Amino acid sequence: MDWGMKNRLAQVIKSDGHCLFMPIDHGYFQGPTRKLEKPGETVEPLLPYCDALFVTRGVLRSSVDPEKSKPIILRVSGGTSVIGKDLANEGITTSIEEAIRLNVSAVGLSIFVGSDYERESLLNLSKLVNEGEAYGIPVMAVTAVGKELERRDARYLALSCRIAAELGAKIVKTYWCKDFEKVVDGCPVPVVMAGGPKTETEREVFEFVHDGLQKGAIGVNLGRNVWQNDYPVAMIRALRFIIHEDATPKEANALFNEIKKGEA
Ligand code: 5RP
Repeated sequence: MDWGMKNRLAQVIKSDGHCLFMPIDHGYFQGPTRKLEKPGETVEPLLPYCDALFVTRGVLRSSVDPEKSKPIILRVSGGTSVIGKDLANEGITTSIEEAIRLNVSAVGLSIFVGSDYERESLLNLSKLVNEGEAYGIPVMAVTAVGKELERRDARYLALSCRIAAELGAKIVKTYWCKDFEKVVDGCPVPVVMAGGPKTETEREVFEFVHDGLQKGAIGVNLGRNVWQNDYPVAMIRALRFIIHEDATPKEANALFNEIKKGEA
């Protein structure tokens, strides 16, 4: 692997081999998502505790201070909305020159395996990997399920992750699911987990993140379950405790409750 590619990967995956990415890209198809109406304000207290931000160029330029930033994973796919015909019909929205201009550590794009736009999204990934390889920029593939949340099972996610890796993604983002080892074991590149819609309890998040790590995931790209929580700093610090300090879900929950008192 070339020096630039290795160096950029090392910016987002820490020396322990683990990572905590903070996604604030949801507006690119959902509009002003709850608690992300002002992304700059939402993310500011979380910046010290995340390893990288997953964000579009619009929010990066408008809401993130270039002098007090984190490594950036630039969301470069889009073109659809929650009220449009088909979420899967995404294109590449941002050029590789723009990614270089913004000094990003990686770029990210969604693929929609099994959808009417499977081929287009997979060819988008291939094109982005070709461009990324030319300039030493790693690609994170997002295995999107669109509105079909029931697709979050090991068979489907293993298929999507493997295809993403075969096409050259350097990191694959997917969802935790039952039998998650089948997803990780079939994917020859590092896997990170998204959080999905906010859960009833914090403990559920700590449990699945811990289980996913035990089964080989390297970390998370987890947004709503952090910034939609009433105590986002407590939440991200508890997750960091699991990801970078090997804490159990019980220990993470105890830390969450302790920090929450200070955030109240
Ligand atoms: C949105 C994304 C998000 O980055 C991803 O889903 C992670 O966020 P969350 O934990 O809120 O699901 O790709 O399209």
